[in-house]
Amino acid sequence: MSRLFQPLSIRNITFKNRIAVSPMCQYSSTDGFANDWHLVHLGSRAVGGAGLILTEATAVSAEGRISPNDLGIWKDEHIEFLQRITHFISAQGSVPAIQLAHAGRKASHHRPWEGNRAIPESEGGWKTLAPSSIPYANEEPAPKEMTIADIRRCIQDFAAATKRSIDAGFKVIEIHAAHGYLINQFLSPLSNHRTDEYGGSFENRIRLLTEIVNVVRKTIGYNLPLFVRISAVEWTDDGWKLEDSVKLANILKELSVDLIDCSSGGNSREQKITAGPMYQTPFAAEIKKQAGILTGAVGMITTSSEAEDILEQQKADLVIMAREMLREPYFALKAAKELDDNIKWPEQYERAK
Ligand SMILES: Cc1cc2nc3c(=O)[nH]c(=O)nc-3n(C[C@H](O)[C@H](O)[C@H](O)COP(=O)(O)O)c2cc1C
Repeated sequence: MSRLFQPLSIRNITFKNRIAVSPMCQYSSTDGFANDWHLVHLGSRAVGGAGLILTEATAVSAEGRISPNDLGIWKDEHIEFLQRITHFISAQGSVPAIQLAHAGRKASHHRPWEGNRAIPESEGGWKTLAPSSIPYANEEPAPKEMTIADIRRCIQDFAAATKRSIDAGFKVIEIHAAHGYLINQFLSPLSNHRTDEYGGSFENRIRLLTEIVNVVRKTIGYNLPLFVRISAVEWTDDGWKLEDSVKLANILKELSVDLIDCSSGGNSREQKITAGPMYQTPFAAEIKKQAGILTGAVGMITTSSEAEDILEQQKADLVIMAREMLREPYFALKAAKELDDNIKWPEQYERAK
């Protein structure tokens, strides 16, 4: 059997293969509620055979949404429809996971197909929060520097969102600490100019993340996997480096994080990214090697042979795919054929196998 189709067990949960659907914002919610779009979008990728299906960035508070149309889990009423989705994903033999997020200074924006611009408060937007009052882009309104009370509330929002996620049937929690959103803003010296215990030294800048990790782990107990997505590098001359990610991964491992989902960038307008096939996989490989923790590789992985090579060369433990999954929701079924693995298809589709 190929490595791609070998199951992966973390704590009490087993993924039937190493293929994960990466979180992808759909900007299709009203007031944070999941709806038929999310059921079909996530459900069809479960029908397509991926072992793990991650929801899009799901806001832990209304103010933490990138756009007014983000998926959310800040109130109990959100749970019911999410339950329907996790139930469907589980019934296909896939594992439902949720990415919990707060957008920080990148909140209150129009969705991409409506221009991506900041929405001013005068047009129904809201005041954004950040470690320091530094906007992501000069032309955008400056965020409010979070007080200690704001930080405590944010940590509690992650805890409450985690509890709701478990009630909704999710089996894996991923904390979104990448792409220049709130937690990433705290990690980076470019966006965090605080002088209190949440800014300055490396230990202070990672404090928000470690405190969130602690409340999330406490909430889920020790039977379910906990992932953290990071931006392994900022792609700038100064700022967060791969060495910082390795150091962070070592600390997160001690705090019982199970897997680092290795993405990059998104926090600086000055970033210069060199993208290409599997361009972020070296980050997953380095973190896996240096920190001895499971990693997920993501970023322009589009073929079964690339995915198999990543695992074979022990660069990562999970292959996480986004855009290829939009083009080909049945990627896993196709990949099994290409790699000569005889996997179970949905009975309804067997005549096409
Ligand atoms: C439509 C779309 C929405 C995305 N939304 C999220 C998100 O909610 N959370 C996240 O961590 N990454 C998000 N990403 C980034 C992807 O998860 C992934 O890291 C990135 O697209 C690189 O993988 P790929 O080359 O396989 O597409 C999004 C990407 C796309 C294309």
